[in-house]
Amino acid sequence: MGSRGGALPVAVLVLLLLLVLKNGAAQSRCSSGDLAALRGFSAGLDGGVDGWPAAVGNASSSSTSDGGDCCAWRGVACDEAGEVVGVVLPNATLRGVVAESLAGLAALRVLNLSSNALRGALPAGLLRLRALQVLDVSVNALEGAVAAAAVVDLPAMREFNVSYNAFNGSHPVLAGAGRLTSYDVSGNSFAGHVDAAALCGASPGLRTLRLSMNGFSGDFPVGFGQCRSLVELSLDGNAIAGALPDDVFGLTSLQVLSLHTNSLSGHLPPSLRNLSSLVRLDVSFNNFTGDLPDVFDAVPGLQELSAPSNLLTGVLPATLSRCSRLRILNLRNNSLAGDIGLDFRALQSLVYLDLGVNRFTGPIPASLPECRAMTALNLGRNNLTGEIPATFAAFTSLSFLSLTGNSFSNVSSALRTLQGLPNLTSLVLTKNFHGGEAMPTDIAGFAGIEVLVIANGELHGAIPAWLAGLSKLKVLDLSWNHLAGPIPPWLGELDRLFYLDVSNNSLHGEIPLKLARMPALMAGGDGSDEAHVQNFPFFIRPNSSARGRQYNQVSRFPPSLVLARNNLTGGVPAALGALTRVHVVDLSWNALSGPIPPELSGMSSVESLDVSHNALSGAIPPSLARLSFLSHFDVAYNNLSGEVPVGGQFSTFSRADFDGNPLLCGIHAARCAPQAVDGGGGGDGGRKDRSANVGVVAATIVGTVLLLAVAAVATWRAWSRRQEDNARVAADDESGSLESAARSTLVLLFANDDDNGNGDDGERTMTLDDVLKGTGNFDETRIVGCGGFGMVYRATLADGREVAVKRLSGDFWQMEREFRAEVETLSRNKSNG
Ligand SMILES: *[C@@H]1O[C@H](CO)[C@@H](O)[C@H](O)[C@H]1NC(C)=O
Ligand SMILES: *[C@@H]1O[C@H](CO)[C@@H](O)[C@H](O)[C@H]1NC(C)=O
Ligand SMILES: *[C@@H]1O[C@H](CO)[C@@H](O)[C@H](O)[C@H]1NC(C)=O
Ligand SMILES: *[C@@H]1O[C@H](CO)[C@@H](O)[C@H](O)[C@H]1NC(C)=O
Ligand SMILES: *[C@@H]1O[C@H](CO)[C@@H](O)[C@H](O)[C@H]1NC(C)=O
Ligand SMILES: *[C@@H]1O[C@H](CO)[C@@H](O)[C@H](O)[C@H]1NC(C)=O
Ligand SMILES: *[C@@H]1O[C@H](CO)[C@@H](O)[C@H](O)[C@H]1NC(C)=O
Ligand SMILES: *[C@@H]1O[C@H](CO)[C@@H](O)[C@H](O)[C@H]1NC(C)=O
Ligand SMILES: *[C@@H]1O[C@H](CO)[C@@H](O)[C@H](O)[C@H]1NC(C)=O
Ligand SMILES: *[C@@H]1O[C@H](CO)[C@@H](O)[C@H](O)[C@H]1NC(C)=O
Ligand SMILES: *[C@@H]1O[C@H](CO)[C@@H](O)[C@H](O)[C@H]1NC(C)=O
Ligand SMILES: *[C@@H]1O[C@H](CO)[C@@H](O)[C@H](O)[C@H]1NC(C)=O
Repeated sequence: MGSRGGALPVAVLVLLLLLVLKNGAAQSRCSSGDLAALRGFSAGLDGGVDGWPAAVGNASSSSTSDGGDCCAWRGVACDEAGEVVGVVLPNATLRGVVAESLAGLAALRVLNLSSNALRGALPAGLLRLRALQVLDVSVNALEGAVAAAAVVDLPAMREFNVSYNAFNGSHPVLAGAGRLTSYDVSGNSFAGHVDAAALCGASPGLRTLRLSMNGFSGDFPVGFGQCRSLVELSLDGNAIAGALPDDVFGLTSLQVLSLHTNSLSGHLPPSLRNLSSLVRLDVSFNNFTGDLPDVFDAVPGLQELSAPSNLLTGVLPATLSRCSRLRILNLRNNSLAGDIGLDFRALQSLVYLDLGVNRFTGPIPASLPECRAMTALNLGRNNLTGEIPATFAAFTSLSFLSLTGNSFSNVSSALRTLQGLPNLTSLVLTKNFHGGEAMPTDIAGFAGIEVLVIANGELHGAIPAWLAGLSKLKVLDLSWNHLAGPIPPWLGELDRLFYLDVSNNSLHGEIPLKLARMPALMAGGDGSDEAHVQNFPFFIRPNSSARGRQYNQVSRFPPSLVLARNNLTGGVPAALGALTRVHVVDLSWNALSGPIPPELSGMSSVESLDVSHNALSGAIPPSLARLSFLSHFDVAYNNLSGEVPVGGQFSTFSRADFDGNPLLCGIHAARCAPQAVDGGGGGDGGRKDRSANVGVVAATIVGTVLLLAVAAVATWRAWSRRQEDNARVAADDESGSLESAARSTLVLLFANDDDNGNGDDGERTMTLDDVLKGTGNFDETRIVGCGGFGMVYRATLADGREVAVKRLSGDFWQMEREFRAEVETLSRNKSNG
């Protein structure tokens, strides 16, 4: 493909250099100037270059030793005259600055220092090496401006790659680089306008131009039209606005046009048909309006058309059916309407079709299963009607199907049609079947199903017995229906089930003890294996609040047991304490009675525990203070009594979490009088002291949380650059954009020791530096656990304290906001008091 356009000549060149090295090393010795240049380079690195003579970085050592012939050093290539022509040290664990002396290698043709840990500036002298053909310093931590106000003289340059560093200022223009074919400055902090006229004016032979993921702004530049040979143009992940200028549509060699995540507007004009070589067109996350032009007959090689999250209207262009190579068609989240009327028989390469969140009407085309390669189909949130066509029984390639939020009917025929599909792993049928249908009882099959979501369907009947046969099931959501009867105990015997939501039904009876033995929620369980990665967004969207959640991998779901809003009776089983892997337990709004068992403190991973709106009595067990990841705790509206435990996460919970329990006392409710529980009266003084104390702790926590949020966003950003495709898919959700995903990434700190609240608050303050150092910048080897909400790292602070640092994933945003709001309230109390 186009992106590799310049790679072949370079590979040949490197090969030649290596051959030269092999043949020439014996007779040639490198010149003293080159030797000094390389010694200087080595001296700039912490610890030199692995494999170079030990004394190389040592200015005082003489050149008479073995180390004197630099042509023999690892990664160094010389020509017959002994001049260094190549320094090729990619992925060589180099750490340190790039010494200016490197620019002394006057004959250098190839410099490849990609994927190291180089920092500091790019020496300006490197941009005046007249023989340099390849400069690759990608994936380092270099910073500052490139070629700002510096004389650039690179007449031989062919391939220029400074991507994934921290460069800033305006992007470099390699004036005089008339032979340049490949230019990549992606993943930096370059800003300002893209000077297309200067880039293409200087280097009309450019084939690859990548300026992705920077801070470029301004209107889409005119001038790319001069790059007549352009094969790839990538400007994604910037803030470029305006309409596409005409000259872009003269680029008849263009194969890749990637413009996603900008602020582009206007129409995609009919002259799109001039881009007849296009293989991939990605304009996702912009503000394009109007119809998609019906010109795809002129673009027969198209393999990907991605335009989700724009403002496109009109119908699907009929000529798309002519793109027989089309693999990906993603038009999610637009305002497209009409029938889904493509000729699917002609789309034999189509693997991924996402038309979700549009205004399509009519039935599902019965010919869809003729796309024999299709694995993922999302038609959710349209206005489609009718039944799932009987032809879907032959849709054997299908792995993922979401039909959420349409007006399909006949759940029985839907499940019967789909039950035999051998490759189906995820089925999401939420918000359909509005007629109040019965949950079918006579289903068999779904042998490979891992995710089954039939929520919000007004379905009645019982939780059907055929679910017991779904041995691969990991996620089951039947919430918001009218299902009645008991919770069947066999749900606890599904080996892999780690997410169970049957909330908002009319289930009654006791919580089956078997649920306390769900293998995938217990230590050593089998639920976390992720044999194949699911790369398709789908949604679970409880509508009890505005809280929407989106996951694009099954493994991202938080291990959960959600039985809320039913008519469950009896006690909270103490045995639930054995669920050491569960993250969310919601038993709220039932009719549960008896005590909160102290054994629940065994659920050591739990982050959210809600038993509110039941009839529980007795004290809140102090053992719950040991749940160090508990960030949401709600026991409101029960009959609890006694003192609220102190310590651990309890200092962060909101007063509202304890409301409606008149007999409860403690910092979050009424003050505990020593003699009686109804201490309403005059104890104001003591109360103020106490809340002031909490304020100090809370202020420290706020500071820490905010600081760490910055750190996490930076880390996330770095990560997201390398995971561009994943990030894009992950952002394609219903509840937030890429940006909100970034904002929602938070880090929380939980000290492992138990002396919370009464220790030296000054000592507890942790700085961002402490945390980054303590976790080795979130080093993978420091991971001690992971779950639906994020990774847990072990950190050793400077003073020797061991703490668990948790990087929360975006899904927990809402909870974090609530947590923070509460902490802020407490701080305000302090300044008032
Ligand atoms: C540099 O040379 C000095 C004296 O010869 C020696 O003490 C020192 O260890 C050398 N340093 C390195 C990094 O080899
Ligand atoms: C630099 O080396 C890496 C690793 O071998 C390689 O992938 C990359 O293509 C090289 N860069 C250039 C411009 O040849
Ligand atoms: C870099 O080197 C490490 C270890 O030698 C290796 O595992 C990794 O695949 C290499 N990465 C690249 C991009 O070559
Ligand atoms: C560019 O980065 C350098 C250091 O990395 C910084 O000192 C400078 O202020 C930055 N310049 C701009 C324009 O952001
Ligand atoms: C530049 O380097 C990055 C990282 O090594 C690589 O992914 C990218 O393909 C390179 N760009 C070009 C145009 O080859
Ligand atoms: C598209 O191609 C047609 C026919 O070759 C040509 O007349 C027209 O100017 C081209 N449009 C653009 C924007 O280059
Ligand atoms: C699209 O336009 C709206 C209104 O002008 C603006 O708020 C929004 O940020 C734009 N979206 C993008 C992706 O530029
Ligand atoms: C859907 O598209 C609109 C318009 O481009 C955009 O504002 C919104 O953020 C998108 N929604 C998502 C979830 O991406
Ligand atoms: C689609 O359905 C929604 C809700 O069912 C309705 O409000 C809307 O008017 C419908 N739109 C069309 C174009 O039928
Ligand atoms: C089902 O999945 C398997 C494994 O992913 C694959 O080899 C097979 O081709 C698929 N079946 C069909 C009909 O696509
Ligand atoms: C559902 O479809 C089946 C055929 O699969 C049909 O027998 C039945 O009558 C349909 N039910 C309703 C309510 O339309
Ligand atoms: C729970 O049971 C009571 C009495 O049996 C009934 O009135 C109520 O409707 C039930 N609630 C639900 C959500 O089914």
